[in-house]
Amino acid sequence: MVRHFLRDDDITPAEQQRILDLAIAMKADPYGLKPLAGPQSVALIFDKTSTRTRVSFSVGVADLGGNPLIIQSGESQLGAKESIADTARVLDRMVSAIVWRTFAQSNVEEMAEHSRVPVINSLTDDFHPCQLLADLLTVHERLGRLAGLTVAFVGDGSSNMANSYLVACAMAGMNVRLATPTKYQPLSSALSSAREFATKSQSEVMVTENVRDAMTGADVVVTDTWISMGQESEKEARVADFSGYTVTSDLMELADPAAIFLHCLPAYRGYEVDADVIDGPHSAVWDEAENRLHAQKALMHFLLTSA
Ligand code: CP
Repeated sequence: MVRHFLRDDDITPAEQQRILDLAIAMKADPYGLKPLAGPQSVALIFDKTSTRTRVSFSVGVADLGGNPLIIQSGESQLGAKESIADTARVLDRMVSAIVWRTFAQSNVEEMAEHSRVPVINSLTDDFHPCQLLADLLTVHERLGRLAGLTVAFVGDGSSNMANSYLVACAMAGMNVRLATPTKYQPLSSALSSAREFATKSQSEVMVTENVRDAMTGADVVVTDTWISMGQESEKEARVADFSGYTVTSDLMELADPAAIFLHCLPAYRGYEVDADVIDGPHSAVWDEAENRLHAQKALMHFLLTSA
């Protein structure tokens, strides 16, 4: 049966570990596995802008022996002139996987429903699961393990990154703390999924307004932009709402001395994070960006060989 990766819990915790182990091996031997030899093509569809996702998937598909086919949705028939279902029915006859960055989660779900090849969510309004594989790989590289560590996500608790952090980290047996204003709560399905995984692994899931409570003793500190793609008109209100949620060097003092700082990028220095944190000694953001490549290659190998 074809496997898709639309949200973090579309794989099991054991499969998550398997993909991360494979990513470590593939990072050490970047051209050793060629599941896309032919070359077979992978459709990379973008409804939103991107630097890391576009480059890491393009390079990753090529490294796997394949041909990356970038489709800017505004230049295709998808959406305005042709349904998602019909697009899936055409693409799956010519490509070996479909990677889609779009707005509604229901878009990738509909594509997957009608596709006979794996569909990968490369960011929706609700989840960014490929980013979490890269982030977990980075944590493992820097701190040597995942289970038992504590991650503090500070900022927009209703964002795709917050939802993915809750689910993916709980799956990995990490304690997850989300510090966010009350009006920016995560998806209930993400929170309930995280709590189920946390119960099984005896880890903790905390959602709080209090940044200091979340940051104290944390091994990993994470934030993301307060203004996600499509929210540009809300900038003024959001900047006011997230006052006090900037990750500063004073706040980093509350974390474990060996804590790492992560940000999926692009970053807005002076808003969600101060320059002396993201450009400082705790920051692992450039490794994190590179790890998109290795994690996604492992994910594609897993999905292509599981189908
Ligand atoms: N982190 C991330 O998804 O980066 P891009 O928006 O540049 O793809």
